[in-house]
Amino acid sequence: MSTLFKGISSLALTGEKFGDVQVIEDAALAVDGGKVVYAGPAPKAPDCQEEIDLGGKSIIPGFVDSHSHLIFAGERSEEFASRITGKPYAAGGIRTTVRATRAATDAELKANAGKLIAEFYASGITQFEIKSGYGLDVETELRSMKIAAELTPHTTFLGAHVVPEGVERADYIKSVTGEMLQAVKPYAKWIDVFCDQGAFSFEETKQILEAGIAAGLKPRLHANQIANLGVISLAVELDCASVDHATHLSAEDIAVLSGSNTVVTLLPGAEFSTKSPYPDGRRLASAGITLAIATDCNPGSSYTTSMPFCIAVAVREMGLSPEQALWAATRGGAKALRTEGGSLEVGASADFVVLDAPSHVFLSYRPGVQLVSQTYIAGRRVFERQ
Ligand code: NIG
Ligand code: FE
Repeated sequence: MSTLFKGISSLALTGEKFGDVQVIEDAALAVDGGKVVYAGPAPKAPDCQEEIDLGGKSIIPGFVDSHSHLIFAGERSEEFASRITGKPYAAGGIRTTVRATRAATDAELKANAGKLIAEFYASGITQFEIKSGYGLDVETELRSMKIAAELTPHTTFLGAHVVPEGVERADYIKSVTGEMLQAVKPYAKWIDVFCDQGAFSFEETKQILEAGIAAGLKPRLHANQIANLGVISLAVELDCASVDHATHLSAEDIAVLSGSNTVVTLLPGAEFSTKSPYPDGRRLASAGITLAIATDCNPGSSYTTSMPFCIAVAVREMGLSPEQALWAATRGGAKALRTEGGSLEVGASADFVVLDAPSHVFLSYRPGVQLVSQTYIAGRRVFERQ
């Protein structure tokens, strides 16, 4: 059945290039068989079997969240509160969540992830990646990856999150590059390493990524969140799809990333929640780097499922324009996952968000307000605000 969405005050279309957003006023969107068959000015819209009048709301492509850690149990609100009074964020907090995750049943882990995915839909997210990384033993990493694979095609093995308590460093790296990797690989598309102070060194990162690549996984990286261990050139050399956080980058790092195939994924929720300095998004954009924005949803450094919140922070604190931020949270996320999405061109999956606002600019202009009115995936409504 074909459906025409009309009464659209503005329709934001994303192009191939970073920041390329075209806004059509008085627009229409036609969907058939889960795909976009028309996106453009209302007067030229085709006839459809069904019509839905949005009464002046706007439409944007669905958000693509390229970085989340949804498989965990427990929460760390006390750690968050202690940061606000001055305690710095440290990678070691991850071990608290590891204890809770190992103790949880599969049903509990699935229920927690399911609740967060419902929040993703309510925030306009239509595709998302999920990482493991709170198991850190073969059994729990495998359980985590199996659950992740039930929930999304974009699955990432992050056994190299930190070295768990009670295990020798060398033994753990042997497992992450050997037994653990072999166990999880049927469920993982990506291999990720947290290359940072208190997590994994440059040399360890190289070893783990190369083992993942040899096992058929594609590389991506958590890097330069707390310190710069000089891993950016390696990330580009290994053709990492994305380097995420990138809070601390040197001029040389920026030059290497510029013109490369590696996306920089900004995680505004992480700097917000860890009280850290924000990376200069405008500088990265001016250098010609392709940017994505993701939620980094996890119980330690960024316990948010709200892409609109992340967009608002990226605009206010990282210097992105509303168009750059919209592009980064849609098409940028898809590029960071090397997949289709974040676009409403004819033939694309009809993944889109109806905003109760005249345009996408309101996402940062009205921070903290639930503007997402409806979310559609492949033409099917998965969320409607009551
Ligand atoms: O992306 N930085 C590493 N990993 C997560 C945080 C994990 C945690 O603190 O539980 C992140 O921010
Ligand atoms: Fe993360």
